[in-house]
Amino acid sequence: MRKNIVAGNWKMNKTLQEGIALAKELNEVLTADKPNCDVVICTPFIHLASVTPLVDPSLMGVGAENCADKAEGAYTGEVSAAMVASTGAKYVILGHSERRAYYGETVAILEEKVKLALANNLTPIFCIGEVLEEREAGKQNEVVAAQLASVFSLSPADFGKIVLAYEPVWAIGTGKTATPAQAQEIHAFIRSLVAGKYGKEIADNCSILYGGSCKPSNAKELFVNPDVDGGLIGGAALKAADFKGIIDAFK
Ligand code: PGA
Repeated sequence: MRKNIVAGNWKMNKTLQEGIALAKELNEVLTADKPNCDVVICTPFIHLASVTPLVDPSLMGVGAENCADKAEGAYTGEVSAAMVASTGAKYVILGHSERRAYYGETVAILEEKVKLALANNLTPIFCIGEVLEEREAGKQNEVVAAQLASVFSLSPADFGKIVLAYEPVWAIGTGKTATPAQAQEIHAFIRSLVAGKYGKEIADNCSILYGGSCKPSNAKELFVNPDVDGGLIGGAALKAADFKGIIDAFK
């Protein structure tokens, strides 16, 4: 059966020292009270090599928030999937709406990134989701279907290794969460698309996380839905107590 996962996305927050302190605190908190789900923290690139040795891999995985769409070479400022993997990180967020909106990441670029991540044994947490105008026009299903093209060229075996995250852009960092019914409805639709492409077994095994203003007070009502397999957490991942509160939604 599919895994329940709570993944933190630190975004461009925390100096190295602050990030190390948060990772240590989370590790202590989860050592004292073991999680009932998989836990991942996705940090800025520069934190990865310092943070991975600090956390117990049986409690928490570490991931990047992005990687390059090229394997190596003259791409100043970029960080490759192989470099991410060489830090001990096991995950990478790809296709986050902020990357799509501010850095021009297209379906084709993301397809390259996903393939490079998988080739380097990283688990992509692949994000999809519509903006407010698309939701208001009732176009959310066609938007997520189009975004899935980046991962629907994968072989069934490779698709089976990825995690999906549905993040309505209108809910990210806005304090406005999708209702549990809205989340369940579109998660079920996404799973039906996966089933149509790869079959029921792969669809049933695919973890689909919800992201967008998820917090301790609303995590349980979201995660209890049959097609919501955890969360991708931004703001509430920056404080150990809040992140732990969300992890505890699975208790
Ligand atoms: P948020 O961000 O929890 O702060 O809304 C979620 C995300 O962007 O992954």
